[in-house]
Amino acid sequence: MYVLGIETSCDETGVAIVKNGRDVINNYFATQVPIHAQFGGVVPEIASRQHLIHITYLVRKVLEESNAIPDAVAVTQGPGLMGSLLVGVNFAKAYAWANKIPIIPIHHIEGHIFSAMLLEKSPEFPFLALVVSGGHTMLIECKAPHEYKIIGNTRDDAVGECFDKVARLLGLPYPGGPSIQKTAEKGNPHAIKFPLGLSSGENLEFSYSGLKTSVLYKIKDTPQSEKTEQWLADISASFQWCAIEVLINKTKLALKKTGLKKLVIGGGVSANALLRKRAVEELDAEIFLPPLKYCLDNGAMIASAGYSRLFHGYQSDFSFTANPSLPLC
Ligand code: KG4
Ligand code: ZN
Repeated sequence: MYVLGIETSCDETGVAIVKNGRDVINNYFATQVPIHAQFGGVVPEIASRQHLIHITYLVRKVLEESNAIPDAVAVTQGPGLMGSLLVGVNFAKAYAWANKIPIIPIHHIEGHIFSAMLLEKSPEFPFLALVVSGGHTMLIECKAPHEYKIIGNTRDDAVGECFDKVARLLGLPYPGGPSIQKTAEKGNPHAIKFPLGLSSGENLEFSYSGLKTSVLYKIKDTPQSEKTEQWLADISASFQWCAIEVLINKTKLALKKTGLKKLVIGGGVSANALLRKRAVEELDAEIFLPPLKYCLDNGAMIASAGYSRLFHGYQSDFSFTANPSLPLC
């Protein structure tokens, strides 16, 4: 069965066709990074207009090159930016209606979880998922297909959002995650001690606003003459270390509390090299890390989740609409 996956929740137009939820036949996306970088972050109105420009071309390209006829369409229903989501949802509805095939609305976070199903060796349920992106920092107990329990969440900023905001404070380009990672390469991760949000005790909640504020104060307190290239590398490396340290510690605790032995890591921040390395080295679990192209927002993960929902008997009519604050469960 071929599923066409469409993802337009934020600033990437992602379109893919996936066979049986696992084999990616084609996966293309149009990035808007250079456009939003001029403003230091995503401008919602520009994002939705860009989706409109790219979506028809991308769907046509995916279909023509794959020579496959979709049996169903899966689309991100939410959460995300309303205008952006509406472009994908309405395009998907029109395509499904015209071709008389089923449509499956998908939660964006479920998509990130299902990016692990695109791995050659994919995880069997139950497993723990750490989903870390620009909008989410979540620990999710994945009990069975489409049966989730959120056991950890952020009280304020998401970790990716924190990377983006700190990069902006440091004068590094958007998106912040990759620029901080690059700048940190030559830095000492233990040069500056930053606070680890909500690190004491047994709770699985995250908080990233304190870390961001500490970086701000450090920048303000450092005389201009000391702000050398090495200082920038050190502050980036120290920030990155702390941001990732919290993820590692909380995931360790979640594995212990749930007794789960398999861990899926997904979302844009799962592209981070330090997180990937430390997770494999330090966590007592079988780790499922999607390749970089499926960590960031993409259509293939949405198609995979859509296939699974169809396989498990989920159906939808055309009455659903985009929902920027759609709950996962
Ligand atoms: O999942 P995603 O593509 O979009 C959302 O659903 O938000 O994640 C984007 C986030 C951005 O905050 C970006 O800075 C972060 O992922 N990111 C990274 C890295 N690559 C992307 N964060 C840390 N290290 C990276 N290498
Ligand atoms: Zn995402």
